[in-house]
Amino acid sequence: MEPREESIPLQRQVLLLLVLLCVYVSASEPGRFSVAEEMESRSSVGNVAKALGLEVGELSARGARITSKGKKQHLQLNIQTGDLLLKEKLDREELCGPADPCVLPFQILLENPLHIIPAELRVLDINDHAPMFPDSEMLLKIRENSPPESLFSLKNAIDLDVGINNVQNYTVNPSSHFRVHTRTRSDGRKYPELVLDKTLDREEQPEFALTLTAVDGGSPPKSGTAQIRVLVVDINDNTPVFAQPQYEVQIPEDSPIDSLVVTVSARDLDIGSNGEISYALIQSSEEISQTFKVNPFSGEIRLKKQVDFEMIQSYEVDIEATDGGGLSGKCTVRIHVMDLNDNPPELALSSLNSPIPEDSFQVVVAVFSISDRDSGDKGKMVCSIQDNVPFILKSSLENFYTLVTDGVLDREIRDEYNITITVTDLGSPRLKTEQNITVLISDVNDNSPVFTQTAYTLYLRENNSPAFYIGSVSASDRDWGSNAKVIYSLLPPKTGDLPLFSYISINSDNGHLYVLRSLDYEVIQAFQFTVRAADGGSPSLSSQALVQVLVEDENDNSPFVLYPLQNGTAPCNDLVPRAAEPGYLVTKVVAVDRDWGQNSWLSYQLTKATNPGLFTMWAHNGEVRTARPISDRDAIKQRLLVLVKDNGQPPLSTMATLNVLLVDGFSEPYLQLPDAPKEQAQTDSLTIYLVISLASVSFLFLVSVILFIAVHLWKRKKNATDGLQLRPNSSFPGHFVNVGGTGTLSQSYHYEVCLTNDSGTGEFKFLKPIIPSLPTQDSGRDLEESPPLQESFWLG
Ligand SMILES: *[C@@H]1O[C@H](CO)[C@@H](O)[C@H](O)[C@H]1NC(C)=O
Ligand SMILES: *[C@@H]1O[C@H](CO)[C@@H](O)[C@H](O)[C@H]1NC(C)=O
Ligand SMILES: *[C@@H]1O[C@H](CO)[C@@H](O)[C@H](O)[C@H]1NC(C)=O
Ligand SMILES: *[C@@H]1O[C@H](CO)[C@@H](O)[C@H](O)[C@H]1NC(C)=O
Repeated sequence: MEPREESIPLQRQVLLLLVLLCVYVSASEPGRFSVAEEMESRSSVGNVAKALGLEVGELSARGARITSKGKKQHLQLNIQTGDLLLKEKLDREELCGPADPCVLPFQILLENPLHIIPAELRVLDINDHAPMFPDSEMLLKIRENSPPESLFSLKNAIDLDVGINNVQNYTVNPSSHFRVHTRTRSDGRKYPELVLDKTLDREEQPEFALTLTAVDGGSPPKSGTAQIRVLVVDINDNTPVFAQPQYEVQIPEDSPIDSLVVTVSARDLDIGSNGEISYALIQSSEEISQTFKVNPFSGEIRLKKQVDFEMIQSYEVDIEATDGGGLSGKCTVRIHVMDLNDNPPELALSSLNSPIPEDSFQVVVAVFSISDRDSGDKGKMVCSIQDNVPFILKSSLENFYTLVTDGVLDREIRDEYNITITVTDLGSPRLKTEQNITVLISDVNDNSPVFTQTAYTLYLRENNSPAFYIGSVSASDRDWGSNAKVIYSLLPPKTGDLPLFSYISINSDNGHLYVLRSLDYEVIQAFQFTVRAADGGSPSLSSQALVQVLVEDENDNSPFVLYPLQNGTAPCNDLVPRAAEPGYLVTKVVAVDRDWGQNSWLSYQLTKATNPGLFTMWAHNGEVRTARPISDRDAIKQRLLVLVKDNGQPPLSTMATLNVLLVDGFSEPYLQLPDAPKEQAQTDSLTIYLVISLASVSFLFLVSVILFIAVHLWKRKKNATDGLQLRPNSSFPGHFVNVGGTGTLSQSYHYEVCLTNDSGTGEFKFLKPIIPSLPTQDSGRDLEESPPLQESFWLG
């Protein structure tokens, strides 16, 4: 098909040609024909013969034909009938487009004579096209606050038909807000306009879908539709609105910093920036802005610092929500702080009485008050101390307490109490406060000094230097300070026979004991006294202890020869008959030693003799016997020197001179006694008595020695069990065997022997044995157990 754009100028050319022809062929009658479009080909349009008023035969005779200058020929002439027939189907829209009427000019040419008759064919429109919208969908944006009756232009539909067959009416489907006006342009074309019936609200309905229908005027009418999408354009016509105008929240007072209090939320019905909300605190007070912060986007209210019920119980926070268009809304958040047990009790000590004396009874030691800042049960408190102390708590007023002693205090057991006062509240969790009080106990003089031993035994060697330290006593006092300061003193003896204070002194500070004088074992073997220890308290307390001093022997006495008398003035002569057999007992040297023990064990030795070999000396008993028969050559007067030696360290010795007369037959001994020449007979009997008594004494000694050994063995056994060793007890040396019933004294029985001279008869007096006995009745029982030998021998 040819495009219409080309056909239109073609038609104009044809028209121009026609106009020229009309001018040229002036009186020619135009032949008019019309036909509806879309008629079948070969259908008749009209009859040329009739139109020209010619006979049918005349047409062929005159050589009639149809011409259309240079254009496509749509018609053909039936020359026999004169009918004008369509060569083909005609489409008005193709031939003429929108031009109306659609006229196709042509000429009827008669050749004989030449005659050109212009003619035209009108193509009549039929409604063969429906209206069509160029776009099937239209988008329309309308601000939501546009006033009613506002008009919005729409694209029109296109209908290729013309005239009544073109678009006649536009309609839109029924809508609450819109209708369509059909307008007519100056050229008669119709176009639609959208009319707003009612104000739009985007928040109510943001979008409308309309169907626009264009209807033409054909019969039957044809229509075309298009969709209209109406978008309602938002304007900021809504303020933000909070979900709740008021929020009530509770937060515990221990909520940490940055913890969420509440999230507020506001809604804005607008969209876009008009609906974008930001939250902010309305600055009501410095305190609130320091305590809370709000997230502008999320509306979360968080803590900026810790809250404290004890300071502020509730807050009222105003929050503002602002949208992008500047509209704002407000809400109030009431924040209640919940009280928690977050305050421990407090304890205020108002007085402390320390130290307190140990004899205190129900004395107030401390006064204090307790308090708790929490409220309710959380602020109620109980107060206690530990159980194991002699103190109790007393409450006089509410929350006022006194700490009172309750029970026996003894500084010597415990001089300090750490008392922990515990105050606990009744909240949950329970909080407690502890306070430690140190109560010192001061001393009271309630303890006497105590000696380390109830009795002391001290040993001292005789012949000590004056002011000799012999030992010390010691007492301790469990008290403290001057109450524990011990002062030592000597108590005067109960029996006044010993001048104690001239013997002994004590250092009052340290209890050291000194012997003031040199002591002689041979004079005093033991003594005892009482020491006292007193403390410095007021009143002072004291105690006593017994001190026994045992004097130990030293070898300070040489043996003393009792017989024979060693005074030069009274020589003793022993008579030996010349007929004496060997082994004849000539005499016995009797010696004593005032020392004790080993120091008094004596041995005898013949050191010099007139006729050596005539006499022998028994070393251990002092017996002098003849060693051989006496010959005539032996001198009458024999002089023997005997060394008497004790067993001390070093040993002491004495020389004794022995005069022996060898006589023929046993006659009266020559005894020259200086002051008793007249009492010769008495002297003779004295000699006999002396011999008898010596023999009996020897016997007694034998018995005693056996007894001693028995006792000694028994005592050693006892000592071994007691662990007590009174004296050094060396074994008895063999060459000192002390038997034989002579006058030699054993180590156990120590005789003080002196030769008295008052009666002038050479009287031997065996005085009381020096038993180491103590001056008082409490003398050592060990010593008392020794069998005393209370015997006196009166000789002569
Ligand atoms: C257009 O159509 C509507 C609805 O069908 C009708 O009410 C109206 O009268 C018509 N307008 C014209 C000019 O025919
Ligand atoms: C009491 O506490 C003090 C320190 O506070 C301590 O030095 C002392 O040893 C304690 N005493 C007792 C008996 O616990
Ligand atoms: C109090 O004393 C107790 C036990 O001696 C100790 O455990 C505690 O820590 C002390 N309290 C204070 C506050 O010193
Ligand atoms: C002999 O000595 C003893 C002791 O030494 C003495 O007691 C006595 O008087 C003396 N006799 C004479 C006569 O000198």
